[in-house]
Amino acid sequence: MKLGIFLCLIALMQFFSGEALSYRNISGLSNSYINLRALFPSSPVPVIEVMWYHKTTDGNEVLLAKFQDGRVIDRLSSRYMVEDGGRVLKIQNGSKNDNGVYKDEATLQGGGLVDDVLYLTVYDPVPIPDVIPQVKRIGDKCHVAVQCSVPSNRSDIYYTWKYRHADKEYQKLNDTGGTIRMTVPIDHLDMKFMCTAHNPADQKNATTHIKDCEGINQL
Ligand SMILES: *[C@@H]1O[C@H](CO)[C@@H](O)[C@H](O)[C@H]1NC(C)=O
Ligand SMILES: *[C@@H]1O[C@H](CO)[C@@H](O)[C@H](O)[C@H]1NC(C)=O
Ligand SMILES: *[C@@H]1O[C@H](CO)[C@@H](O)[C@H](O)[C@H]1NC(C)=O
Ligand SMILES: *[C@@H]1O[C@H](CO)[C@@H](O)[C@H](O)[C@H]1NC(C)=O
Ligand SMILES: *[C@@H]1O[C@H](CO)[C@@H](O)[C@H](O)[C@H]1NC(C)=O
Repeated sequence: MKLGIFLCLIALMQFFSGEALSYRNISGLSNSYINLRALFPSSPVPVIEVMWYHKTTDGNEVLLAKFQDGRVIDRLSSRYMVEDGGRVLKIQNGSKNDNGVYKDEATLQGGGLVDDVLYLTVYDPVPIPDVIPQVKRIGDKCHVAVQCSVPSNRSDIYYTWKYRHADKEYQKLNDTGGTIRMTVPIDHLDMKFMCTAHNPADQKNATTHIKDCEGINQL
């Protein structure tokens, strides 16, 4: 029974590695450690050997690290470390030069061979955003606009927002653009807006407090 499940698992892994999961996109942060995690089954399925490769743009496969009997027996440089029983390739001091295709290939006890492919994109840390509030009073209403931006025109950045009134809890706003607008009664002010700038690997937030409908940038 146990062997049956095991063989079934191996067959599934082989199916997925060849088909649906033929590659995965993953993101990493520049100047920090980047972990690539293989998909082969977690313990107790015994792993005999794991090879980690980088496919260069000209199609060559460069061996980054070879893990056998519980330890690394060969690697391209000390930047490449292997952890968690061969499942994780840890790259030191990631940079955009590390972008591209990676492959892990594991030999499991009983002769099963599983592999999967990862496509790594390395992103720079997100800068702390600038949040600029603007207000305009019309009658007994205050028109509020809050603009959030990072000091670069990087297209990989997107924004999320949280808002709180007076002592209430922050709540998420649905807007994802760089500017949000609200019209509120004059006596509803005392508002805080938190903008978070994101890319797939990092995020930074900043807040602004609007106390009344005067004294700050006019719309
Ligand atoms: C990976 O990212 C690229 C763009 O960077 C996209 O076109 C592709 O659909 C993504 N693939 C998967 C499997 O998510
Ligand atoms: C990290 O990589 C960058 C360039 O990719 C290099 O200039 C820097 O010296 C490296 N830092 C360390 C600590 O290895
Ligand atoms: C901003 O975009 C312009 C044109 O799209 C480009 O030339 C410039 O290098 C970009 N600046 C930054 C900091 O990314
Ligand atoms: C945000 O979207 C959800 C579902 O799409 C909706 O139920 C909710 O009312 C929206 N919130 C605001 C503040 O518009
Ligand atoms: C906002 O940023 C601070 C520090 O940069 C962090 O401690 C905090 O968890 C962040 N808050 C949210 C909601 O992301």
